[in-house]
Amino acid sequence: MIPPETLELIRSRLDVVELVGEHVQLSRAGRNMKGRCPFHQERTPSFIVSPERQTYHCFGCGEGGDAFSFVMKIENLSFVEAAERLAARAGVKVEPAQALSPQDKERLRMKEALEFAAAHYHELLLKDPAAEAARAYVRARRLSKASVEEFVLGYAPRQGNLAAAASAKGFEPDVLLKAGLAAKRPDGTLRDYFFDRLMFPIRDAKGAAVGLGGRTLGDGEPKYLNSPESSVFSKGRVLYGLFEGAAVVRKTRRAHLMEGYMDVIAAHQHGLKSACAPLGTALTPEQAALIKRYAESALIVFDADAAGQNAAVRGAEVALAAGLAVRVATVPEGKDPDEFLHAKGLAAFEGALEEALDPVAFKTELLVRRAGELTPEAKSAVAKDVMATIVQCPDEVLKDEWVRRLASRLGVNEESLRRAAGKGVPQSRRRAVAPPAPPRAAPARPAEVSASDLKLLGIAFKAPAAAKDVPEDAFESGAARLILLNLRGAGPYDKGWGPRLLGALPPAEAAVVSRLLADELGYDDPAGVLRAELDKRARLKRLKEIEPLVLSMGGAGRPVDAGLRDEYQRLVVELKGTKR
Ligand code: UTP
Ligand code: MN
Repeated sequence: MIPPETLELIRSRLDVVELVGEHVQLSRAGRNMKGRCPFHQERTPSFIVSPERQTYHCFGCGEGGDAFSFVMKIENLSFVEAAERLAARAGVKVEPAQALSPQDKERLRMKEALEFAAAHYHELLLKDPAAEAARAYVRARRLSKASVEEFVLGYAPRQGNLAAAASAKGFEPDVLLKAGLAAKRPDGTLRDYFFDRLMFPIRDAKGAAVGLGGRTLGDGEPKYLNSPESSVFSKGRVLYGLFEGAAVVRKTRRAHLMEGYMDVIAAHQHGLKSACAPLGTALTPEQAALIKRYAESALIVFDADAAGQNAAVRGAEVALAAGLAVRVATVPEGKDPDEFLHAKGLAAFEGALEEALDPVAFKTELLVRRAGELTPEAKSAVAKDVMATIVQCPDEVLKDEWVRRLASRLGVNEESLRRAAGKGVPQSRRRAVAPPAPPRAAPARPAEVSASDLKLLGIAFKAPAAAKDVPEDAFESGAARLILLNLRGAGPYDKGWGPRLLGALPPAEAAVVSRLLADELGYDDPAGVLRAELDKRARLKRLKEIEPLVLSMGGAGRPVDAGLRDEYQRLVVELKGTKR
């Protein structure tokens, strides 16, 4: 969608070292810069940035690429979004969203209206005399000033004026209606949707406001009124707090899943930034897949009441099916995370989290507790119910281990558990939940390239101008040949060379290349080294060709070819110490 010349212009004005340097502390290491990888946790730096090549590569997790892919990954943006961000930074004008469909434009406008509403309500909460009760409520719930700011909490007054203010700002009535910010009066004029509520803007993972939740200040019904579902807002697809915590979730590869707005804010306020929550519904497969894009594991810590515990079990099953490692914790003393954190602090809370159980153990203990006495019938019921969770686990080894543990916990026979599960679990529950979207955050697995191919490629990368002399059949693998062809076609050896090369290759080959680009070892005469290596390979090939002939000479009346024998002996001496 963005013309290649524009991309090239953006690239030429950016420095990947400067860009990465805003997220990673870099220090010089030879020709490259080195730091701790922002995409996984590590203590010793293995993240390399090449100023010459304008690329980066992590030798720890395999992540690599150029300025565009760095911004995409660190900010969780699409390519076009990253390009727009970098264009603005480089002062390059990208032709305004001409390719946007009318629906896209409308969605954009709705998000702008929602952002306007969030800011409007926020202002009122901070300053409006009519928001005194709301401010008192905020204090009573022990929400800090920083939390109010970070989550852009607001107040929708009793005397609503959002629709009027938004209209005055130029937001079309249709947009306000579709975004669920206003409703139509019988006479056709607009009125606000939210009245006298503490407002919580709901953001997607990229930070765009997509809806709002509003809590009554007293005990009116409903406790929370949420924006209606719309083309930008779908409850089951967002997680409250994930945007605010994304950097930490990505870094620690773990999310804490809680039940409500208040729990999430309390957690962030106490320093647990990886907390997020579904919006009052059970965790959906879409939400689990969203977490999977940032994290490997989820720790579910729902309210201690029966409803919370049931939702925790269901959520754990969904997260498990999405391929997340899951633990479930209980907040002590029958509290929810919000109450407990304010009462006991983060250390006590984290202490409780250490008691977290795997989903199967959690469900087993919950059901055993609820059964009271473990009669044979109760055992059978618990076993069936827990097996229904176990069969949903995509990991066979884990499944096996869980059956063993369940059998031992209930004191029943393992084999009968397996048999019962095979028959008893209804088909609908056995079907795994839809597989999660491929995790964008995970680096591509590098293509298979032999050590010998890798060596030759490594040298060719030091002498890209001489790469045209490397014959394709010098390589064993298709991946290496593909890389060679692109190496020849990557244009002038300037700042844009590395990124252009990466951009032209499929992910698996690009993963190999990003690593080669990070190799800082140089040669005084790279073209000479390349020639020598090619020459050696040619001799080796010749040696292998004539070896069987020479070795069978003279036997069974075969003639001796002295020339061939001499050539063979010369090659053997020349190639001494070379691996054949
Ligand atoms: P809770 O009732 O546990 O709310 O519902 P909470 O966040 O702990 O709030 P406080 O502490 O009582 O003020 C959990 C979540 O369910 C959704 C909200 O997202 C809420 O945060 N919910 C709850 C609704 O959408 N509507 C409701 O009427 C109630
Ligand atoms: Mn609650």
